[in-house]
Amino acid sequence: MKILVFGSLNIDHVYQMDHFVQAGETVSALDYQKNEGGKGLNQAIALSKAGQETYIAGAIGQDGLFLQDLLQSGGVNTRHLQIVSHPTGHAIIQVDRQGQNCIFICGGANQQISQQMMDDILAQFSAGDYILMQNEISNGDYLVRAAHARGMHVILNPSPLSPALMDWPLELVEWFILNEIEGAALSGKDSPDDMLDALLSAYPKAHIVLTLGGDGAVYADDHERLHQPAISVQAVDTTAAGDTFTGYFFHAILAGYSVSAALKEAAVAASIAVSRPGAGRSIPLYAEVKAQLANQQ
Ligand code: RIB
Repeated sequence: MKILVFGSLNIDHVYQMDHFVQAGETVSALDYQKNEGGKGLNQAIALSKAGQETYIAGAIGQDGLFLQDLLQSGGVNTRHLQIVSHPTGHAIIQVDRQGQNCIFICGGANQQISQQMMDDILAQFSAGDYILMQNEISNGDYLVRAAHARGMHVILNPSPLSPALMDWPLELVEWFILNEIEGAALSGKDSPDDMLDALLSAYPKAHIVLTLGGDGAVYADDHERLHQPAISVQAVDTTAAGDTFTGYFFHAILAGYSVSAALKEAAVAASIAVSRPGAGRSIPLYAEVKAQLANQQ
């Protein structure tokens, strides 16, 4: 059984700010870094660092070869990564003094992924393999259909949410992992319990992980609901915390852990990522997560 992360790779331009820029305001950044990011890259690194054999598919330009280097040093198999003539996708990220962020992305090479490329890559995977996707590449709806038609288990992190995603074949998704903003938009509800009820009513066979920031995360399926409290740390940079949670959670599920153990491990990994700057580079090694888990017992 293999897991393929088919998703985005971004160059993250990160600005440390006193506060997020307001409309009509011009301010100086306190600092700047260029980092490796993109939800696909971050989630693939988290899976791999957790100990999962992980493949990534996506597209970068020549300016993004350092993203491939980080993936390879994190143990991710990059055989299916395409180098295209477009510039690599990028993200503009403001991080404030509390470690909160706001982000906008510009698709670049991530939006050059064709259905043919998807077919060629999926042909190298089989029924029973897993695919983990987000919403930062072109033809995402096609990818859900094509992966499901091959018999792959489809995991969707519907982030960032877009109007087009509402028309994706979401009934083919086996696992959703999403935050409250995405949950509210997909369900039309305000409270986490109502969101989960509405999502399970629309997709009764799905497994849903709803992340709630400082309130932790909730897992729900048709017969159980489990809550994992957040682990409180001094936030330095929350970028990629959700991606770290996602990668660690699915490593644990694929390894056969119980859902509650998977939630706990993912929460610990995310708390470590939050305490460090950056995206792909902030993701902890499995040994660090294990040490922290041992401290808590
Ligand atoms: O989830 C964090 C990521 O979102 C960043 O690394 C950025 O590239 C955007 O894709």
